[in-house]
Amino acid sequence: MDCSVLYGIGGGALPKDILSNQALAERFHLETSDEWIVTRTGIQQRYLVAPHEHTSDLAIQAAKMALLNASLDPEDLDFILLATSTPDHRFPPTAVLVQEAIGAKKALSFDMNAACSGFLFAVSMADSYLRGQNKRFALIIGADTLSRMIDWSDRTTAVLFGDGAGAILLKREACREPKRGLLHTCTFFSRGYEHLYISENHNTCAIKMDGREVFRQAVSGLEKITRQLMLETHISTEDIHWIIPHQANKRILETVAHKLNIPFSKILYTGDQHANTSAASIPLALWEGWKKGLLKEGQLVVLQAFGAGFTGGASLLRL
Ligand code: UT7
Repeated sequence: MDCSVLYGIGGGALPKDILSNQALAERFHLETSDEWIVTRTGIQQRYLVAPHEHTSDLAIQAAKMALLNASLDPEDLDFILLATSTPDHRFPPTAVLVQEAIGAKKALSFDMNAACSGFLFAVSMADSYLRGQNKRFALIIGADTLSRMIDWSDRTTAVLFGDGAGAILLKREACREPKRGLLHTCTFFSRGYEHLYISENHNTCAIKMDGREVFRQAVSGLEKITRQLMLETHISTEDIHWIIPHQANKRILETVAHKLNIPFSKILYTGDQHANTSAASIPLALWEGWKKGLLKEGQLVVLQAFGAGFTGGASLLRL
């Protein structure tokens, strides 16, 4: 039997423009405060792309770093899957721009959009592709520039999002004991697309969100799916070294951790620094975890995602 294991420590990319809560309020004349944003969301700052920068620029940077960190030749890549809801163009897929920029000549490359759940689903799909097609290496990227989709006069959404990209490499290899890599994934859908969507009118896009309803559904969905994952993989909360969740709101993560009886110290939280970077938030947190020496080979990690749709899931990985 074959497993898809993480190959190297991945990579990440953030734009140069760092904006504190205070600076954000001043730049966009928002009636808000650092105190409100930190207390209600945990967010302290976010990174925003410059007018000339696109999702592909961040994705390419993160991809190059992942390849460099793993000393992998891009020509060895069989598959590039880019999770994003902010592609550079409607077509071609932004993954193709990444493919060309990094020189991955033989990789099948395309995008998938599952909003903030995109990266978790992409990892699961890449695992199936590698094992099903007998391929060796996949590059999975989560990259988003949601700052392009914000109505900067709407304080209820403008304070929540940031831009970024994260990338990982998966390698198919024969399983050894204990099994490593992606061990299991559970997914869910709960209806409610009207509570979180991007409205498009005359070429202007804006995120529309009923924050309270999204919060409520995120908490119940994440709790339920994590319990299901633990049940199906016969693990307990004590077996888990880290939970690496999609980083939307610290209070969501605290509430879910409390309900699951997991100490918050086991949650790899980066939302304070990056804000909500949508499909990029999980791979960015993974990358930070490796860089800071928090993640170690052999550890059991749960990825958790929840996004517009609503869709979500939880995956169990052994590093
Ligand atoms: O990745 C996709 C998933 N997205 C999420 O998971 C987001 C989920 N939702 C949330 O994170 C939270 O619901 C928010 C952070 C969006 C809002 O926090 P909340 O505690 O649910 O606040 P609220 O919507 O109940 O609003 C409370 C008050 C309101 O004023 P009134 O009606 O009580 O006078 C809002 O108008 O806070 C006001 N408010 C603000 N005040 C200062 C809303 N946004 C702001 C703001 N600054 N930026």
